[in-house]
Amino acid sequence: MIKEKSFKTDNVEIGETEVLVGLLADEIEKRMGDCALENRDLVLGLATGSTPIPLYAELVRRHQEEGLSFANVVSFNLDEYEGIPAEHPESYRSYMGRHLVDHVDMRKECVFLPNANAGDPEKEGREYEERIREYGGIDFQILGIGRDGHIGFNEPGSGRETRTRRVKLAAETREDAAPAFGGIGNVPTHAMTMGVATILEAKRIVLIARGSGKREIVKKAMTGPVGPEVTASFLQDHADVTWYLDGAAAGE
Ligand code: GLP
Repeated sequence: MIKEKSFKTDNVEIGETEVLVGLLADEIEKRMGDCALENRDLVLGLATGSTPIPLYAELVRRHQEEGLSFANVVSFNLDEYEGIPAEHPESYRSYMGRHLVDHVDMRKECVFLPNANAGDPEKEGREYEERIREYGGIDFQILGIGRDGHIGFNEPGSGRETRTRRVKLAAETREDAAPAFGGIGNVPTHAMTMGVATILEAKRIVLIARGSGKREIVKKAMTGPVGPEVTASFLQDHADVTWYLDGAAAGE
């Protein structure tokens, strides 16, 4: 259906992955440039999962082939699994290294993920929130969406006021992660995640969804009632959100 170019209406951008990735990378590059001119950091909120991988690949390409510098980027990841070490290949720390951080000139001390193995999750949650505030808040938040409508690991039932905290993963979420972990028995049962309120404080949010498996939940999140059953639905109340959908996720 939609080839070569993208289709934009209101706060939705529909197109092929390559096109969407180009648009998103352009926006991030522009923001990085603007911040560099003003001599300040760009604070990115980063997501994991398969969805943002092509975007990270494009950012790495721009660094390697075009000299795009990430020296003024600070990043905060949405979430991290509990009970696996940072070096585990499926930790989100490893994921970020593999797909972005190890290939660009980001300052390693400015790459933040919640520590899900901290002895005191409440303290860790508080400190993560404080650190985000110290850096002036998240300028640009990238999100994917889980099949159950979660953003970060805010599973159904997570309210609008939730903050960075320890959460139990939904059965569906663990099933989706099972192949990567080599079986459901190896998938962590808990994680630390930014809360819905944390995410909604980002100045600008983009949610990316690809594939027909996301179509139903994207529709619910965008047009259904706003509430904790589908935590992505809370984005309906944010003033600056764009949904980046491929044709399969958007439906006809
Ligand atoms: C995990 C992550 C989410 C991500 C979701 C979807 O649950 N914590 O941030 O959005 O997976 O993953 P995928 O992009 O692979 O569909």
